[in-house]
Amino acid sequence: MNKQAQDKFNIIIELARRRGFFWQSYEIYGGVSGFVTYGFLGAKLKQNIEKKLREIFVNKLGIMEIEAPIIAPSRIFEASGHVDHFKEPMVECLKCKKRFRADHLLEETAKLSASDVEKLSLEELKEALEKHNVRCPECGGNFSNPKHFLTMFKTTIGPYSRAVGYGRPEAAQGIFVEFRRLYEMAREKLPFGVMQIGHALRNEISPRQGLIRLREFTIADIEFFFDPKDTNCFLLQEVGDETLRLVLAESKLRGSEEIVEVTVKEALKNGYIKVSWQAAFMAIAKSLLIELGIPANNQRFVEKLPWERAHYSLQSFDQEVYVDRWGWIEVSGHAYRTDYDLKQHMDFSGTDMRVFKDYEKPVAREKKIVKPVMTKLGPVFKSTAQKIAKMISEANPEEVEASFKARGYYMLGNYKILPEHVEITTCTLEERGRRFIPHVVEPSFGSDRLVYVTLEYAYRVKSDRVVLSFPRDIAPIQVGVYPLVSRDGLPEKALQVYNTLVNEDIAAEYDEAGSIGRRYARADEAGIPLGVTIDYETIKDDTVTIRDRDTWRQVRTSIDALPELLHKYFRKKIEFDDLGTIVKK
Ligand code: ATP
Ligand code: GLY
Repeated sequence: MNKQAQDKFNIIIELARRRGFFWQSYEIYGGVSGFVTYGFLGAKLKQNIEKKLREIFVNKLGIMEIEAPIIAPSRIFEASGHVDHFKEPMVECLKCKKRFRADHLLEETAKLSASDVEKLSLEELKEALEKHNVRCPECGGNFSNPKHFLTMFKTTIGPYSRAVGYGRPEAAQGIFVEFRRLYEMAREKLPFGVMQIGHALRNEISPRQGLIRLREFTIADIEFFFDPKDTNCFLLQEVGDETLRLVLAESKLRGSEEIVEVTVKEALKNGYIKVSWQAAFMAIAKSLLIELGIPANNQRFVEKLPWERAHYSLQSFDQEVYVDRWGWIEVSGHAYRTDYDLKQHMDFSGTDMRVFKDYEKPVAREKKIVKPVMTKLGPVFKSTAQKIAKMISEANPEEVEASFKARGYYMLGNYKILPEHVEITTCTLEERGRRFIPHVVEPSFGSDRLVYVTLEYAYRVKSDRVVLSFPRDIAPIQVGVYPLVSRDGLPEKALQVYNTLVNEDIAAEYDEAGSIGRRYARADEAGIPLGVTIDYETIKDDTVTIRDRDTWRQVRTSIDALPELLHKYFRKKIEFDDLGTIVKK
């Protein structure tokens, strides 16, 4: 990393702390890695980013939002496979006892690629650490043998030590376990999607990357349920011609990070992406990031190799953004989870997770059946004959036939059934539809990483001052209201304007402390897109100056027109110059 990148990162982190975007939690007790507290500006920025997710997925695409608990009984995560799989390789320094992710040490110190490291067994990790002479970054000590560490937070539910629970490492399971109800709410029709935005807990081994790697963070998981036999994806009409920058698994296998730039339609046609819904969501994720201020060229989607994928995934892409301090970082994951999760919960809970879908026209099918012959069963089985007849008709015809052939009889529980007791024939049945477990694609965003990349891409230096040029619709504060000086009735007038804006649901801030230049500088640093200044002319004609954060240009408008103009501006219906309704004489 070059000095410029390090300096910029330090300025952003210092600014984040000083202006109250975010800081490490529990500072008065020395701080704890992997936990952050958002201050007023940061919390608002994060909420506005999440509002964008809601606008896109809930409001526009009709995806249902739910809120489920963070703690779940261990059974849920046994079924989902997390208890077996949600583990990372860890080593301990034999001297200072600090613990580290073995794979991350190899990536950072020995400069091995993440995909090469991820496939190593514990034994191979040990050999690689020795071969590359990797030592403790804190004290230079030697390491223990690597072992797996379960990164879910474990707890007990209530005062019962055997009632083990886990903090959710993803919001997805809260959706899968409620599938039956959610399907009903979707009027029993596929496709449909469900989103959950909430805290996730991962007991990361040694988090040292601020917002990028937290132990408690906010995840936005969208589970989109569809029929794998239905190839119609209505989103393609809208995003089919959008381009995606892909780093394919086959390139990675060649040791290359070559970018293949294709449209969504081409990516599907060439078989780069298996499922249309997944490709469409990737295009939507790209547009979302553009709206947060990250240009398309600084984004890419990297396909994961089989051993890099989560246990439930048949194909995964990480959406990555280039940041100066860390290089490419993942901001969202796109996984084709197939029917894995619903199937697991069906097996573990005994609840049928299948759906029934009508065919357009009923289909006639030849079917082999086992028919009981009552005249033969009656005399032999007497009062149990009816019960046995029912069981026979439910038996598998192929199994019955095979058993007759091999042994001359078929055992139905304790009852010995002879060939003369049944008739195996074929009949024509009319099938109305099919029963199957829906498949799922999942876009999964991390809000905290989105906050970080938004902050880094908003960072500008203008005349030696830091300006955070957030896109206007996600800026934590929209408008600063300032009296030019704090006398002659200007503060009173400015407070009136401020109250008008607040009553119009505009996120406004009133500031009368210090010179107007200092106040503008403070506002620029907090990323406030517009300043409204009340001066001596305001007292005469009820007009105000509006100042643009990015260009520092000013226009004049009347107070009456202000609310409507501002609403239009923040909805991106008009541009800055359109705010000036009064032409200066
Ligand atoms: P990584 O490889 O960086 O550990 P991951 O592949 O485990 O991430 P996912 O399981 O796909 O991540 O989680 C979905 C999203 O949640 C990620 O794209 C990221 O934005 C966010 N995320 C995951 N882990 C963390 C974390 N420890 N801190 C902050 N955000 C996280
Ligand atoms: N969604 C990430 C995981 O649970 O593995």
